Amino acid sequence: MKFNVLTLFPDMVMDSLNHSIIGKAMEKGIIQVNSINFRDFSDSKHNSVDDYPYGGGAGMVIQAQPVLDAYEDLVKKEGTSRLIYLTPQGKTFNQAMAEEFAQADQLTFLCGHYEGVDERIIDSIVTDEVSIGDFVLTGGEMAVVLIIDAVARLIPGVLKNNSSSEHESFHDYLLEYPQYSRPEVFKGMRVPKVLLSGHHKNIEIWRREQSLLRTHKKRPDLLPHANLTESDKQFLKKYCNYDVNML
Ligand code: 6GU
Repeated sequence: MKFNVLTLFPDMVMDSLNHSIIGKAMEKGIIQVNSINFRDFSDSKHNSVDDYPYGGGAGMVIQAQPVLDAYEDLVKKEGTSRLIYLTPQGKTFNQAMAEEFAQADQLTFLCGHYEGVDERIIDSIVTDEVSIGDFVLTGGEMAVVLIIDAVARLIPGVLKNNSSSEHESFHDYLLEYPQYSRPEVFKGMRVPKVLLSGHHKNIEIWRREQSLLRTHKKRPDLLPHANLTESDKQFLKKYCNYDVNML
C-alpha cells in the first residue's frame, strides 16, 4: 500500500515513521510512504506558500496554487486516489476508519499548517476531512503519522502475527485483557494463578471476564457496541451490576 503525504515538513513525517514495525514494513516494501514538499511547486519568487487572509485576521493561509500543482503532479505520476485533509474540523479518526482506509491501494494526505489552507483546495480536490480528536495541533504532520501507523498495521505482512491486530482493543469494542510475563513474582506482585495453570479453557474464560470488567470500568461507553454473549451479559449483571437490557 502506498501513502502519499503533501506537507511542508516531509522530514517530520518520514523521521517519525522510520522505526520499529512501520520502519521494517517500509524496508520490506510492504508499505511505501512518499512524502512530498509542496513548497517545491510554488510559482512565487521566493518559493513562498502562504499569504495573508482576505478579510484580515491573525495568521497566514496556505495558498491554493502550490497544493494543487503538487497534487496534479502526483496524480500524473501515481494515478488518482482519495485526498484526505487533516483538520480538527474533520470526522474523528477511529478503528473503523483505519480498517476502511486499509482497503485502499493508495491514499494521499494533505497536511495544513498555520491557519489552514485556502478553502478552494477543500472545495475542489479534497475528498475527506479527518481529525484525530478535539484539540488543536500546529499542523497535520503528527496526525498523519498516527493515521499511517494505525492503517499500516492492518496491512497483511506488517505485523508478525497476522491475527493479533484482530484480538486487540476496539476490534470488537472490548478492551484487551491484562498481560503478564516473567517473573512470576515482581516486587511482591503475583501473576494471576489461572495463567500459570495451563488450563486453556479457564484462561480463555478469565481473559474474557477481564475484558468485560475493564471495559465496564475504563470505557463504559464502548459496551453498548460490543457483541456480548448471554454469559457475558450475565457476568456483567452479576459483577458490575450492569444490565445491557436496561440501556
Ligand atoms: Cl488532523 N490536524 C490539526 N492541525 N489539528 C488537529 C487535528 C488534525 N486533529 C486534531 N487537531
